[in-house]
Amino acid sequence: MSGMGSHQSAAALKDEWLTPPHIIAALGEFDLDPCSPINRPWPTAAAHYTILDNGLQMPWHGRVWCNPPYGLEAAQWLARCADHGNAIALVFARTETRMFFDHVWPEAHAVLFIEGRLHFHHVDGTRAKANSGAPSVLIAYGAINAADLRRIKIPGKFIRLKL
Ligand SMILES: C[S@@+](CC[C@H](N)C(=O)[O-])C[C@H]1O[C@@H](n2cnc3c(N)ncnc32)[C@H](O)[C@@H]1O
Repeated sequence: MSGMGSHQSAAALKDEWLTPPHIIAALGEFDLDPCSPINRPWPTAAAHYTILDNGLQMPWHGRVWCNPPYGLEAAQWLARCADHGNAIALVFARTETRMFFDHVWPEAHAVLFIEGRLHFHHVDGTRAKANSGAPSVLIAYGAINAADLRRIKIPGKFIRLKL
């Protein structure tokens, strides 16, 4: 994509921005990634759903990793994470939005605002040259995931929201 200064603003054009592998490695093993590319360069969990399955309609199990499709659709995925109660999500830190006030602030156990900006990866595994153009936040649903977020070595600001 040319001129990808901010992939946040290119959200409608492309959903295939993959989590930098060091983030998932730091968080430990996940049982399920319900929104994964059809052809992924690496596993993000023991099981994956893709757009062909429609991960929102499928049953979720175990510890879930969720870097959801962008845009308004993301709210449905965070709602599902909250409902499931055992998930870590990665989204842009748009803390003023309806999505945050509905599904993060009242529901999540903790957040980790990542220092700096991430470089996401393309589906072929290559790292994007430009950073994402916006801040990212990891959101823990469930007390154990909150403890994991506090312990990991990803630089940022951890804030507990619920005991
Ligand atoms: C931002 S990418 C993140 C990919 C991966 N979860 C990761 O962390 O690297 C969002 C992914 O959701 C997939 N996706 C979009 N709609 C979906 C759906 N209804 N069910 C499952 N996956 C979907 C896209 O194809 C894309 O691969």
